[in-house]
Amino acid sequence: MNRFKEECGVDYLVNEPSISPKPLYEILNECSRTFKVFCVLYTALKMGVFDCLSKPKTLAELCEETKANPDFMDKICKILVDLGFLVEENGFYKNSEISDVYLRRNSPLNQRSVFEDLRNNLKLWERLEEIAKSGPITIGEERFFKEHNESLASRALCGELQRTVKIISSLPEFKKARRLLDLGGGHGLYAIAFTKLNPNLEAYVFDFPEVLEKTKENISKFKAERVNVIAGNFFTDDIGEGYDIVFFSYNPGGRNPKLIPKIHASLKDGGIFVNKHVFHCKGEGTKSPLLDIEWCMVAWSGVKKASRIYSFEGNTTFEEYLEVLKKYFSIVKIVDAHKFAGYALTQLGDTLDAKIIVAKKI
Ligand SMILES: C[S@@+](CC[C@H](N)C(=O)[O-])C[C@H]1O[C@@H](n2cnc3c(N)ncnc32)[C@H](O)[C@@H]1O
Repeated sequence: MNRFKEECGVDYLVNEPSISPKPLYEILNECSRTFKVFCVLYTALKMGVFDCLSKPKTLAELCEETKANPDFMDKICKILVDLGFLVEENGFYKNSEISDVYLRRNSPLNQRSVFEDLRNNLKLWERLEEIAKSGPITIGEERFFKEHNESLASRALCGELQRTVKIISSLPEFKKARRLLDLGGGHGLYAIAFTKLNPNLEAYVFDFPEVLEKTKENISKFKAERVNVIAGNFFTDDIGEGYDIVFFSYNPGGRNPKLIPKIHASLKDGGIFVNKHVFHCKGEGTKSPLLDIEWCMVAWSGVKKASRIYSFEGNTTFEEYLEVLKKYFSIVKIVDAHKFAGYALTQLGDTLDAKIIVAKKI
């Protein structure tokens, strides 16, 4: 009855709605505020604010260098101070520690590519209606990974890479290892880090040829002398042999038991297979409804996705995968995500509840 009256326009001008709009407005306000914060941060990044403020500057000096309007820049700087990305002292602005490390262009840990990836991701989401009506956008898998390679590397450098490398390098087999395959290694930073920790190790990054262009840049950037690349498709091509360790992290084949015999054959006797992936367990529902949608918004021409985040046709449950794995390997240990996970962005690349399975060839 109430709702009928409101819809007829009799009641709602004088009586507050019988159903409170508060939950709706709380969500809209969160969306509005965080999008605007993102725009301020990204704009400051693009205008070079954090490059300029590695040394203290007045507002006038900052505006001259960034060619900004002082009224706008004044407001932007005040917001950045509130957010903790700038410090203001005696009329001078300068980077806070976090912005100097993660937002300054010349910093080795700068996260610019992550911002760009996030922005492109938001643009993809603006197409949700079109995609929900007409189906996913199809792009080549190789192109997708080429485009995301740099941001995946930057994200990994924020903790997950170092934590993972520590877990693997503490294995007794790592210290003795001479040959390591980083299968679907992408940016190659894992392989590079492994060779820095074991001076006798020769590492091989296997990936699509176009993705390896960035890998080669990283090999030179980090002056890695014992890291090589192998171009190919691990589903169809030879992956080599005689490895002491195969490291397999976040790949379309990571939950596909068909690759287990191939990886087994590529290892020396007693060799170690390290599989770091997000698995779905038997009877498990969704890990994230938002990420399930995002996963299905883009189809890859190379390999067929299934409907949940990070899943593909031909994937098994965690339990089924372990069953097949145990036919070829003995499980040394399984490490849960809280020991190595990076920071979430509610975006592809999130660690979720990934596991590191360390298995020894039998
Ligand atoms: C999500 S990235 C993971 C990169 C890195 N291993 C990590 O954990 O950060 C997946 C990588 O697997 C590569 N890849 C996917 N399918 C592949 C295939 N069939 N053959 C070779 N590489 C593949 C992609 O090009 C990409 O570099």
